[in-house]
Amino acid sequence: MTTKSHPHAIRSAALTFIADPFLVGSADAFHYESDALIVMENGKIKSFGSYDQLKSTLADDVVITTYKDSLVLPGFIDTHIHYPQTQIMGAFGKQLIDWLNNYTFIAEQQFSNFDYAKKVAEFFLDECLKAGTTTVMTYCTVHPESVDAFFESATDRKMRVIAGKVLMDRNAPPALLDKSAQTGYDQSLALINKWHDKGRLSYAITPRFAPTSTHEQLESTGALWKKVPGTYMQTHVSENIGEIAWVKELFPDHKDYLDVYDYYGLLGKRAVYGHAVHLNEREWQRMYETGSSVAHCPTSNEFLGSGLFNFETAKKKERPVKVGLATDIGAGTSFSQLQSMNESYKIAQLGGFALSSIHAFYLATKGAAEALGLEDKIGSIKPGMEADLIVLDLKSTSLIDFRMGHCKNIEEALFIQMIMGDDRATKAVYVAGSIAFEKIHS
Ligand code: GUN
Ligand code: ZN
Repeated sequence: MTTKSHPHAIRSAALTFIADPFLVGSADAFHYESDALIVMENGKIKSFGSYDQLKSTLADDVVITTYKDSLVLPGFIDTHIHYPQTQIMGAFGKQLIDWLNNYTFIAEQQFSNFDYAKKVAEFFLDECLKAGTTTVMTYCTVHPESVDAFFESATDRKMRVIAGKVLMDRNAPPALLDKSAQTGYDQSLALINKWHDKGRLSYAITPRFAPTSTHEQLESTGALWKKVPGTYMQTHVSENIGEIAWVKELFPDHKDYLDVYDYYGLLGKRAVYGHAVHLNEREWQRMYETGSSVAHCPTSNEFLGSGLFNFETAKKKERPVKVGLATDIGAGTSFSQLQSMNESYKIAQLGGFALSSIHAFYLATKGAAEALGLEDKIGSIKPGMEADLIVLDLKSTSLIDFRMGHCKNIEEALFIQMIMGDDRATKAVYVAGSIAFEKIHS
């Protein structure tokens, strides 16, 4: 990693979001500058506007880096991912529960070893940066070592991340189970005290999903989340039809899947629910009332045959639920949020909804930041925001270059990028105002 001296500036086309396109329509949701200047200082954005207007305000010693055929965007945010599952991406042939038993629960046992976890965490974060993703909310494994390894690696890269130790005390191999609800609670609390709110790190209390926790564990999880305000809560809900039937068997007295989490006090602001593919109207209403968020994981939902997420239901005008985009690696098939957008578009099409490029990029930037309650820090290009940026190469392949020659406007340019682009489109990435990734020969 190289570091630029401060203050410094980028000159390029740039785009950011100013509102939720699902609520105000695409045309009023973004701000585009065809020739922008973004000035960064002390890790934050100092000013953003047209080059012509801002150039006279610059001190003589400000270094300007110019990017041609590029578009600067807020760094992508991935609201649901499992770093220990990097090694099982592309595992053939199973749906959720068999996939967990046959691949996931085997791989995750390796993360009791700190050195092993550290190697994977470093590789994982470098892949994120290469894809233009500057913030992730990740699951670790049940082992505290896996959390230490992840937060250490993120600290080295100055990244804003959210992570936590998985809590499980039943229905998984013995090596992956908390000894008791109490030890899971104690280990989580110790990790919170060690890492939460240290620099750019936040802790997420992480019950894997209802079937792998007993009543006692879910109860102590709710108590822990209540005890430490400002922490996150992440889990899975209504991803797969077989999973939903299993939850009904294990928790027969509850109205539905979400009601289980509701009962244990696990809904609210900073609660992030992965998938939400098959929620009923009552569950959506509870998501909205409690300010809980959804992480939409398109490549994973297709890969595991889970189902089609419904945007129109999730974002109903009278009760819009906060939704962020996510890869859900290792069930997800690409680190690139451009590829998540691509598959999200196709899922929406199959449900009769045309997801615009403005919708899609919003879901991976400002929308994701709102889903995480971080919209005052990341996800937009605005003075005072943390300077996490991706410089997108608009001509990253010969085919995209050719296609861009027939492009009419910025919305179409974004659409071409999200349908045809991947991590080859990452020209540069800035994290807290410093270069964190730079494509060679760009
Ligand atoms: N549900 C519970 N655990 C998992 C997981 O690791 N991946 C996915 N996709 N769904 C889950
Ligand atoms: Zn997941």
